[in-house]
Amino acid sequence: MGKKTVLRRVDILDPSPDIIQEAAKIVQARGLVAFPTETVYGLGANALDETAVAAIFKAKQRPAADPIIAHIAEVESLSLVTPVPAETIEALTSAFWPGPLTLVLPRLVNVPANLSAGLDTVAVRMPAHPVAQALIRAAGVPIAAPSANLFSRPSATTADHVLADLDGRIDMILDAGPTAIGIESTVLDLITDIPTILRPGGTSLEALRQILPAIQVKQTWHKETEVGQSPGMMLKHYSPNAQVLVFSGDQEQVHTKIRQAIQTKTSNERLGLLLPEAELESLYSNHIEVVSLGSTAEDAATRLFAGLRQLDALDVDVILTRLPAYDSPLTPALQDRILRAAEGKIVSD
Ligand code: TXA
Ligand code: MG
Repeated sequence: MGKKTVLRRVDILDPSPDIIQEAAKIVQARGLVAFPTETVYGLGANALDETAVAAIFKAKQRPAADPIIAHIAEVESLSLVTPVPAETIEALTSAFWPGPLTLVLPRLVNVPANLSAGLDTVAVRMPAHPVAQALIRAAGVPIAAPSANLFSRPSATTADHVLADLDGRIDMILDAGPTAIGIESTVLDLITDIPTILRPGGTSLEALRQILPAIQVKQTWHKETEVGQSPGMMLKHYSPNAQVLVFSGDQEQVHTKIRQAIQTKTSNERLGLLLPEAELESLYSNHIEVVSLGSTAEDAATRLFAGLRQLDALDVDVILTRLPAYDSPLTPALQDRILRAAEGKIVSD
């Protein structure tokens, strides 16, 4: 799109003030800066400026109906985006901010409507990443930031992923290495009578229930049979170019089905496996690409989006994976991301 995208490396714990200033000036001038958070890279712009927010939608090719999160660096900045007094949500913010929790609250009138896709609410989050914090403070405004990927592509967990999707479309990328958590924040709606998780993420339901016992979870993806009835835009998300097949069941059932798929593949079809390290060993065969999700749920979270992109780069036609079944609070978020990558389809029996 004819922009020169500048890549600047910054130290994660001690980012150069000069580089942060350079990035903050771009934000103040209605430009676009991709920056690391502890979850994924964000594509940042001045959240209080309608033109700057519009530029995010354009660069990402994101539909205007998909609202964006405003990022703040201190609780006091809540008053810039919502009329809700900080005290009323203090229990949540003191337990989970800064961190991977986004809160949906009533929107203050001076927040541009396009940020929230016309809704009278606003999503707010305080990221913990020192580079994100430094940028927001230096810019002096809340920063609007969706994940820094082209719409419907896997989220970016490294500066390379951002460059692959957005080179020439944005002004700057702050590169502080791979992100620590690897999947996005939990989105918690506080407008509804019962607080509702709209997207599972880096903050677990169990942890939230310790502070807010009555939380409910909105099921935002659907099983194969339901897909036709709910062809919501929400479903196709995080999609690599390859088709993703998600197998569910116990380990033996899953492995039997994957072996069948490997045996019945046609000679020119390229297959990729995206599975925990221990499972790859028993399924490995010649002529298929393999990417490991590591050994824990935390490993899988940091490797999932990168793994989908890596298998795309290897030009596979089909990615075979399993529904994550870790005994971990991250499991619902991992399942959500894998199912969306597969456009909601699970291969069960
Ligand atoms: O971890 C994260 O949340 C990352 C980093 C960059 O902070 N951001 C992120 O943004 O994942 P994005 O745009 O990819 O996802 C934002 C999610 C979407 O599911 C969107 O529908 C929801 O938040 N959202 C934003 N504003 C909302 C609102 N006013 N009401 C309900 N949902 C909202
Ligand atoms: Mg996203």
